[in-house]
Amino acid sequence: MNLFLRAGIAISVLTLLIVVHTTTGIAEAGDLLPTEKQCSSLENPDAKTKGWCVAINRRQGNCLACHIIVTDKWPTAFPPGGSVAPPLVAMKQRYPDTAKLRAQIHDAQSVNPQAVMPPFGKHKIISEEDIDNIVEFLMSI
Ligand code: HEC
Repeated sequence: MNLFLRAGIAISVLTLLIVVHTTTGIAEAGDLLPTEKQCSSLENPDAKTKGWCVAINRRQGNCLACHIIVTDKWPTAFPPGGSVAPPLVAMKQRYPDTAKLRAQIHDAQSVNPQAVMPPFGKHKIISEEDIDNIVEFLMSI
């Protein structure tokens, strides 16, 4: 392959990486999502970041007890999630209707009567506002 072509491809790939990098970031904690510990000292986190923090908090969503969350912003050395439940991946594509996603988190039995996932909203484990924040976060992955 000729040198100019190679250099051209390298530059295009680099530009693409920079564009992807700068347009998809969540503001706090550099480019990575905050760990559970970092979550407790964030100033003015946005809804997405709040949602992530509630989701990973072991006294709140504890979603990682059962699910892995597929994101390229996983905090370094943060333990992975469980494999009891399906991976939370490509949520935006899979849930064009966010009301369905919200219903699943609010009361999983309303979606499937056999569901084993805790009814976070119905049993007031997570506030209505934080369920909205979790939905915001999941729509970003
Ligand atoms: C005790 C284990 C457990 C916890 C904790 C849990 N889930 Fe689930 N979840 C499940 C299981 C099992 C399923 C598969 C359907 C069912 O049985 O409820 C599921 C299904 C789902 C689904 C639908 C499947 C999909 O990928 O589209 C979503 C969305 C979801 N969970 C999100 C969450 C979120 C967000 C949290 C944290 C707030 C959470 N889950 C916490 C066990 C859990």
